[in-house]
Parts: sequence; structure tokens; C-alpha cells
Amino acid sequence: MKILICFGTRPEAIKLAPIVKQFQSRPGFDVRVCVTSQHREMLDQVLEIFEISPNHDLNLMTPGQTLEHLTGKVVERMSKVLLQEKPDCIVVQGDTTTTFAAALAAFYHKVGVVHVEAGLRTYQKFAPFPEEMNRQMTSRLTDWHFAPTVRAREALLKENFSAENIFVVGNTVIDALLMTVDKVRSLDDEFRQRFMFLDLHKRMLLITGHRRENFGQGFVNVCNAIRTIAKANPSLEIVYPVHLNPNVQKPVNAILSGLSNVHLIPPQDYLAFVWLLDRSHIVLTDSGGVQEEAPSLRKPVLVTRDTTERTEAVDAGVARLVGTDTDVIVHLVQRLLDDNLFYKEMSHGQNPYGDGTSSEKIAEILERSLSVHSSNSRN
Ligand code: UD1
Ligand code: UDP
Repeated sequence: MKILICFGTRPEAIKLAPIVKQFQSRPGFDVRVCVTSQHREMLDQVLEIFEISPNHDLNLMTPGQTLEHLTGKVVERMSKVLLQEKPDCIVVQGDTTTTFAAALAAFYHKVGVVHVEAGLRTYQKFAPFPEEMNRQMTSRLTDWHFAPTVRAREALLKENFSAENIFVVGNTVIDALLMTVDKVRSLDDEFRQRFMFLDLHKRMLLITGHRRENFGQGFVNVCNAIRTIAKANPSLEIVYPVHLNPNVQKPVNAILSGLSNVHLIPPQDYLAFVWLLDRSHIVLTDSGGVQEEAPSLRKPVLVTRDTTERTEAVDAGVARLVGTDTDVIVHLVQRLLDDNLFYKEMSHGQNPYGDGTSSEKIAEILERSLSVHSSNSRN
């Protein structure tokens, strides 16, 4: 059985790396990997860490790329790969342009679609943008839906997808995290060297951000909040690996450069980022993946979004939506710094997203399902 695993951005690569490894370890699968390279540097960091050599690299990233250009290119170039490889199915993950456009190309060529991390919803067309529509449209093109949680499965059932094609398996991001965290801890000395500019006796606020719906005023508000927090808490180390999107780089560098306790650093490779996460005290992020990882390491997460499709962590009390209101962000970070009880409540370590066995479950289910398909088509 030939499967083609397709991805293009950093989070897809991290969340599909355990799947690539899992399928490669099973003799029944002929595994091909195609990267669109919607991201370049940030994708290459993940390929290197997980030692994945793609069979096809479409090399599509252009600086400041538009959604329409990228979507068209992925459909066109993926189609060529599908015609060449003729896989039994393709595997896509999440909600990026690569995810949706690769699924669309597979549909045009009547190739089955496996969707990992299916059923996440806000039901708000423009939040997150364009991810909410990407995942809804990908679901319509999907044959095997791998939902991370029961709630995601319920969303798919409500949308009339057939129960027999939906499987709750947890999120593969936890597989990636657990594959990594022990290694990172064993390399502690190396990372201390790499981050020599940090005073590790001090508490650390770790920040990431890149959501399109926050571009403009939203980002300015968040950066102003970080500036206020930095000035009010000189003994807090603030570490911000800044996403390479120019819409992020500009406001972050303009508002946050020159503060001695704010460290603006390039996107970190996954090992280094997990080390930072593990050492951090509080996480402020709009990232989907970081929202899922932080509770596993017992870190309270403040989410700089008005809505989230990862409601499980909010309900468990380990994540809070703070939007992009400067005062709200400042208030909640300060409360986490000053109020021990509040901090404890938000860091009790319930992780609703999986136990690190998602990729194994997905491979087992697909192995069974695809062999039934192929024996049916032989008869
Ligand atoms: C994309 C995804 C988003 C995902 C995020 C993860 C879409 C529309 N957006 O957003 O869902 O959450 O990735 O990070 O699919 N750039 C580089 N080097 C890189 C990566 C990006 O220079 O390695 C710059 C380029 O100028 C590029 C721009 O960032 O054109 C935007 O990249 P793009 O993938 O379109 O959007 P992201 O904001 O990264
Ligand atoms: N991450 C990383 N280096 C960084 C910042 C984040 O490796 O400098 C990882 C993080 O651990 C998580 C993933 O990237 O697994 C999240 O990616 P991103 O925030 O870009 O996208 P999202 O999850 O929001 O789609």
C-alpha cells in the first residue's frame, strides 16, 4: 500500500513526523513524503531534527506570498506528484493552505484523503483565518477523519460525517513532544550554552504569535502589553522566537527592540523550542500547537485570541483566552506572576490532547482499513 504524506509548514511537519516514522517502520506500507515548502527555513528545521528526506520538494515559498497564489500552485504541483506516484491515499494534517490544497488535488485525481487532526472548529468563518475554512473544506474531501478528541468527533458527527470513518486518536503533537522532551533534558548543558544570554535563575515568559486575524492593531496591542510587562518586571526574562512572516517581524521589532529583558530571537528548531518551553514559567501564544504542548509540561497558557478551537484546555482550566486587549494581557500575566494559587490552578498538568500513541493508532487503523479496501477491490 502506497501512501503519500504531504505537508508544507512547521506545525504540520512536527505533527506528521511521528506518522512518517510510524508508517516507515511498518513493512506493509510504501511511504512517500511530499513537502510543498509553503515554509522554507521553518520547515527545514523540522526535517533536519526528525531526519526526514522528502521524495518530492515543491519548493513553493515566496516572500510575502498570497493565499490565492499559493493555493493554485499547490493544487497544480501536487497533481503532478499524484499522477507520478499514484498512491492509494494521501495523508494531510491540520488546517493550512497546504492541507486544503493537497486534499483538493487528491480529490481531483480520485485519491483517498486521510486527515489528521480532524474536526477542530470555531464555526467562525474568519477566525482563525483562513484556517477555519481550510479545515471545514478539508473535512468535506476526507475519507478517514482522525479526530484528536471526543469533542472534535462530535463536531464531525453533527456535520453528518459517517461515524464509521471517524476515529478518536489524540493529537500527534503529543507523540512528537514525548519523542523529544527526554532528549532535550539530556542535552541540558548544550542548551544552557546556546542560551547563555538568559539568566536561568529568573522566571521566563515564553511568547509566540503569527495569526493572520491579529495582523495590524492586534499585534500592536500584544506587543504593547509585552513592553509594559517587561518594564514592570525587570527580573522576568521574556523570550520571543519571532515568526518569519513579515507581518509579524515588523511590529515586533518596532515595539520590542531595545528592552534588556526582552529577547527577540529567530524561530528555534523544535528541540531548542521544547527546551525553552520546559524551562518557561508562563506561555503567551496564539499558536495552535503551543496551546496543545504547554499543558503537557504543566505551563499555564494565555492565548492571544478571541476564540479557540482548542476549548478542551480552556475547560480544564490550564489555558485562558486573553484576546489582543493590552490591559487584559498585562493583568493576567501579572496575576500569574504574583498570585501563587492562581498559578497552581493553571499549571496542574491535565493534558486533554493525547498520550503519545496517536500515530501508532492511526497506522493500525489505516493498515486494517486499507487492506480491507484492497481485498474488496481484488474480489
Ligand atoms: C502558515 C499557515 C498557518 C499556520 C502557520 C504556522 C496558511 C495560510 N497559514 O502561516 O495556518 O498556523 O503557517 O506557522 O496556511 N516565511 C519565511 N520563511 C519560513 C516561513 C515563512 O520567510 O520558513 C515568511 C515568507 O515571507 C512567507 C510568509 O512568511 O511568504 C508567510 O508564510 P505563510 O505560510 O503563507 O503564512 P504563515 O503566517 O507562516
Ligand atoms: N515551534 C518551534 N520553534 C519555535 C516556535 C514554535 O519549533 O520557535 C513549534 C512548537 O513547539 C509547535 C509548533 O512549532 O509544535 C507550532 O507552530 P506554529 O505556532 O508556527 O503554528 P500553529 O501551531 O499555530 O499552526
